[in-house]
Amino acid sequence: MGYLQEGGVVGIDPSPNALPKAQREGVYEAIRRRRDIRGQFLPDPVPEGVLARILRAAHLAPSVGFMQAWDFIVVRQEKTRQGIHAAFEEAHAREAVAMPMARRGAYGRIKLEGILEAPLNLCVTCDRSRFSDLPVGRTAQPDCDRYSVVCAVQNLWLAARAEGVGVGWVSIVDPNAVKGSLGIPEGVKVIAYLCMGYVTHFPERPELEAAGWLPRLPLERLVHAERWGADVARGWPELAAALGNGTQGKGEA
Ligand SMILES: Cc1cc2nc3c(=O)[nH]c(=O)nc-3n(C[C@H](O)[C@H](O)[C@H](O)COP(=O)(O)O)c2cc1C
Repeated sequence: MGYLQEGGVVGIDPSPNALPKAQREGVYEAIRRRRDIRGQFLPDPVPEGVLARILRAAHLAPSVGFMQAWDFIVVRQEKTRQGIHAAFEEAHAREAVAMPMARRGAYGRIKLEGILEAPLNLCVTCDRSRFSDLPVGRTAQPDCDRYSVVCAVQNLWLAARAEGVGVGWVSIVDPNAVKGSLGIPEGVKVIAYLCMGYVTHFPERPELEAAGWLPRLPLERLVHAERWGADVARGWPELAAALGNGTQGKGEA
């Protein structure tokens, strides 16, 4: 029930607690049409009110023990962005040699950041010591603080898409270089460095998919029936069929 359909159409209400149809469609559309943006940024500034809405969406993310370990550093100055861009270039050159020989040419042609073109950069961090005296959910799995910050990034990414603002995540950069440029203290981790701004368009498909770098994997191969490796088509054929054609479960419009 409630799967994302190919055309973004949502079927019958699965529950009295479901959002109204138009709102559900909006959620699924933002998910389906979110893209990682590296090029096609426009120089137009993102108004403070829009940025505030996007940051508020990030701040509403789930977090382990309600720890809210995130901070958001808004970076606009050209000089700071140039420093981060230089760090990207170093990391990019190092990463290139880690690619298989046959892929190096293709790797070099893919645009992997928009640090200078985007009018706004944003660094999202994780303060691992926040509320450390109340480690709910972090004793067996200490990394849950970082996972929570990633949830905030995803909220931000989706809210930005709804606002027509492109977001590109740049991980090809030494986090220590980012920390140095932005004065981030010891104990606070860099989780995401993001390029943000209005764009000419959002590509329909991931750029790495369109460039033939990797295909999107079939979802039915990634869903298992009860145990790792158990084929969902054998365990739950109706679910497998629904996953395969991107439509909703049997009996739904
Ligand atoms: C943790 C993380 C790090 C990423 N780092 C980069 C990066 O350094 N450069 C880049 O071009 N894309 C980066 N991406 C974007 C992915 O390449 C992109 O999400 C993926 O190809 C799917 O495309 P889509 O986001 O448009 O659906 C990153 C994404 C994630 C989640």
